[in-house]
Amino acid sequence: MAVELAGGVYWVGAIDWNVRNFHGYSTHLGTTYNAYLVVDDKIALIDTVKAPFYEEMLRRVKEILDPGDIDYVISNHVEMDHSGSLPMMMKEAAKAELITTEKFGESGLKDTFHADWECTPVRKGDEISLGRRKLVFIPTPMLHWPDSMATYLAGENLLFSMDAFGQHIATSQRFDEEVGLDVIMPEAAKYYANILMPFGDLIVKALDSLSEFKIEMIAPSHGVIWRSHVSEIVDAYAAWGRGDTRKKVVVIYDTMWGSTERMAQALVEGITGAGAEVKLFNLSKTDRSDVIKDVQDARALLIGSPTLNNGMFPTVADFLCYFKGLKPRGKVGAAFGSHGWAGGAVKQIEEELAKAGVEVIKSDLAVKFVPDEDAIKKCVDFARNVANRLG
Ligand code: FEO
Repeated sequence: MAVELAGGVYWVGAIDWNVRNFHGYSTHLGTTYNAYLVVDDKIALIDTVKAPFYEEMLRRVKEILDPGDIDYVISNHVEMDHSGSLPMMMKEAAKAELITTEKFGESGLKDTFHADWECTPVRKGDEISLGRRKLVFIPTPMLHWPDSMATYLAGENLLFSMDAFGQHIATSQRFDEEVGLDVIMPEAAKYYANILMPFGDLIVKALDSLSEFKIEMIAPSHGVIWRSHVSEIVDAYAAWGRGDTRKKVVVIYDTMWGSTERMAQALVEGITGAGAEVKLFNLSKTDRSDVIKDVQDARALLIGSPTLNNGMFPTVADFLCYFKGLKPRGKVGAAFGSHGWAGGAVKQIEEELAKAGVEVIKSDLAVKFVPDEDAIKKCVDFARNVANRLG
């Protein structure tokens, strides 16, 4: 069923209950692809949905009106979870004008669909009157592609924010208070950490651009609509955009015969003894995108790997590759691990952490085969010292 957000403004998106991997991000709770219909003297459809969900969206649009009556289709973002249904919708909404960002929107749609659509490119502050209300366009480049923009519905104080402020949750409820902040905020944090972390400075800029608008409702492209906790999610984005961290250490490892795991547990003991918050993750048991959620607000990472073929375990290499791409800021880190006749993993981890912009603390925690009591004590002492320097 279509759901009315405000007078004549409807959610007409689709619910993907079963998606469990979203370009490398574990979506344990599924997701939604949100499209919105604004009905005034003129009618605007804001975004579409991933192609396999076109019929679901179309059904919801048809509950409200004949899609042939749509005047504008706004493409806030070219990525195919939102634009995938455009080829079908542009046929159905035959008279509609397609609106996208001047920067990369038009070229992105062309390079993706190779269609002969005429686009109307828009820039910051451009407006379209729908009659009683107007749409204002606010480009938000790199949140999360170069073409991304938000669309503001003046008169309703409603921001269609695109990927920003989203969460990957499939639910039959459409609004924040119906699901509860305790459920949606961790998902919003995971979404930010995995998708928007590299763009903290741009988030700060976007929040600055948005501060001139009165916003009473935020309708993102994924998950539930913020109407009861708008200030909470905006404040959270401000903190995440600044890269705020706290006295928290994340211990991340994999293990072959239990030695690196034993060292990881000793590190946890040292951190706990110093009164810092700690999280422990075995990369064979926890998806990288879940680990990243906890890395986002941590001040330190301790990464452990056994040596396999003179290098890191593949799971650890995978994690560090992903982590580096997210351009973390303001973190210290160290490496540890067990090896047999030749080491290699600890040095490799230190090199990768340095490339990721992490301040590396040399640990001297490379242990041959199985750690003895002295090695375990060294781990505890090292972790305590790391935790103590976090302030
Ligand atoms: Fe939800 Fe960048 O697409």
